[in-house]
Amino acid sequence: MTAPAKRTLLVTSALPYANGAPHLGHLVEYVQTDIWVRFQRMRGHDCLFIWASDAHGTPIMLKARQEGITPEQLIERVGGEQRRDFGEFDISYDNFHTTHSDENREVTYEIYRRLVAGGHIRRETIVQAYDEQAKMFLPDRYVRGTCPRCGALDQYGDSCEVCGATYTPADLLHAVSVVSGTAPVQKQSEHLFFKLGDFEPMLRAWTGGDRLQSAVTAKLGEWFDAGLRDWDISRDEPYFGFEIPGETGKYFYVWLDAPIGYLSSLLQYCRRTGRDFDQYWKPDSAAEVYHFIGKDIVYFHTLFWPAVLVGAGYRPPTAVFAHGFLTVNGLKMSKSRGTLISARTWLDHLPAEYLRYYFASRLGDGVEDLDLNLDDFVAKVNSDIVGKLVNIASRCAGFIARGSAGRLAPALADTALQDEFAAAGERVAALYEGRDLAGAMREIMALTDRANLYIDQQKPWLMAKDPARATAVQAVCTQGLNLFRVLAIYLKPVMPRLAAGAEKFLGLPSQAWTDAATPLLDTAINAYEPLATRVDPAAVKALLAASAESLKPADVPAVTAELSIDDFMKVDLRIARIDSAELVEGADKLLRLGVDLGELGTRQIFAGIRSAYEPSQLVGRLTVVVANLAPRKMRFGLSEGMVLAAGPGGQEIFLLSPDAGATPGMKVK
Ligand code: MSP
Ligand code: ZN
Repeated sequence: MTAPAKRTLLVTSALPYANGAPHLGHLVEYVQTDIWVRFQRMRGHDCLFIWASDAHGTPIMLKARQEGITPEQLIERVGGEQRRDFGEFDISYDNFHTTHSDENREVTYEIYRRLVAGGHIRRETIVQAYDEQAKMFLPDRYVRGTCPRCGALDQYGDSCEVCGATYTPADLLHAVSVVSGTAPVQKQSEHLFFKLGDFEPMLRAWTGGDRLQSAVTAKLGEWFDAGLRDWDISRDEPYFGFEIPGETGKYFYVWLDAPIGYLSSLLQYCRRTGRDFDQYWKPDSAAEVYHFIGKDIVYFHTLFWPAVLVGAGYRPPTAVFAHGFLTVNGLKMSKSRGTLISARTWLDHLPAEYLRYYFASRLGDGVEDLDLNLDDFVAKVNSDIVGKLVNIASRCAGFIARGSAGRLAPALADTALQDEFAAAGERVAALYEGRDLAGAMREIMALTDRANLYIDQQKPWLMAKDPARATAVQAVCTQGLNLFRVLAIYLKPVMPRLAAGAEKFLGLPSQAWTDAATPLLDTAINAYEPLATRVDPAAVKALLAASAESLKPADVPAVTAELSIDDFMKVDLRIARIDSAELVEGADKLLRLGVDLGELGTRQIFAGIRSAYEPSQLVGRLTVVVANLAPRKMRFGLSEGMVLAAGPGGQEIFLLSPDAGATPGMKVK
């Protein structure tokens, strides 16, 4: 086997926000990155894993305020949790910095200076939602109100989760600031824009190669067709970030300086270790630069980021690798369902390495979502790792210890089989290289089955009954342990601890990929200690219970402004009887209700409750409506009131009902 040419790689994972502890969704990406990095290093390449915590932006500022601490204290605390949790998941990063650092300020200012000098920044006055009580401009996500298209309540300022409409906060009906609960006003402010359009030819060329996955390329095609819009890179104070040089009260938008964290964390690392920073980012760099990211942040990494880099005189990334989102037992991870499992809670109940293996077995090279099905997790780990892989070692170890004084035989029993295992190395390597981790795991497990079959056929436990066959027993078990050794090497990027245990057992130094090609013979090995133990399903139950418990009332978002009793009395709530309910053409989340309000007559109301109710279920039932809401003209007709319901949405919408005895038109007090 010829050694592949040595490559210089710089690999990053997306920088986790410093406003919350890591959860299993984050770990999908960080485990994926780490496996790839460990694989590259085992292949003898020079591979750095550079990373940081993403410390800026409005959510972090507000979270700190809410906790009564400074943003600096918050990011310090969360940064510590991130390092600790990622460390315990064996994420082998070379540096973990923060974007709120001197290095990041230095590089961000330099990049901005170059972009200004290149004529890539322009100014424009825009109008935005402003909270007069909190004295701040509101990001779209901090304004909530009624969807102007379908009338769904409590929607974000940028899009409606019910009908999918996109709009600006100014279009929302009954808009409310999430920060203070007051109605926002529209206010002007001058912003700085990065002229993304300047880079269209470069971006088209850059994205045209094979550096992106096909699903990402398709998405980019849509974005190009829609036209590249200039990017607003400034935010007004108050904001937690870097002030923009030469401006007053203006800060860089967090997404400008976040990816610059990839450079500044490397800069800190290079200054500490004496490495050459420029070799990675100069325009003609021979180094390879890879970003692992989730599918939600593709736009930032495949359009803004390469354009900013090139605009500032750096090279663009070699490739960007996006992955899909994690669900738990088939459900979107959500705090209210108890399926948001934190990294810490996992570590409290189950081995990190088993999750690494499970993720590897579920991760392909595409952007498809993946599911952590916990029953499947238990079955898979217990079968693949404990029942099959480690079983090879435990079946052979005793015979070598007792029958051959702990020494391996001088020759293998079946060199052809060993060669087969060694030859599979390039196949497995190609799968790792192409990030088809699930494919690599399948290949390794097929070899594991093959090794077990060999032992089943040879039956050393029968041979050992005949003292004359002691040499043959030693040869067969030496063979088994050599096959096991090869498998431990191939699995090492995924399960470094298990591999280290195997190395210790076999008396080996840390193994590289090519070591799999040379059999281990005529040498003393150590006493066997169990390398993996079965997962107890009770531990999984405890994990889920602990995740549900961590649900604190404070986690449930609430938009609560104080209301005077006079204001409240203005709301005319009435009992209504639903006389008709029908689907609305062109709005698959809406129902058109005909309601009877007794003395107030009948009304038509559009309600975003289709996802939870069939029209026929509703006819005849009593509920509560706001009767004096100003009528709203909607695309489908006039909506003359609002029905009251509880719940997060989707199938979980619960219409209010009065007790028996209430009649249409009764006032609700
Ligand atoms: N701070 C930004 C990234 C800046 S990179 C210059 C951010 N942070 S994040 O904490 O929200 O997410 C970090 C990474 O974790 C992202 O790549 C995101 O896609 C990924 N994931 C977050 N939740 C996830 C799942 N449920 N499943 C899989 N990946 C997920 O975005
Ligand atoms: Zn809507």
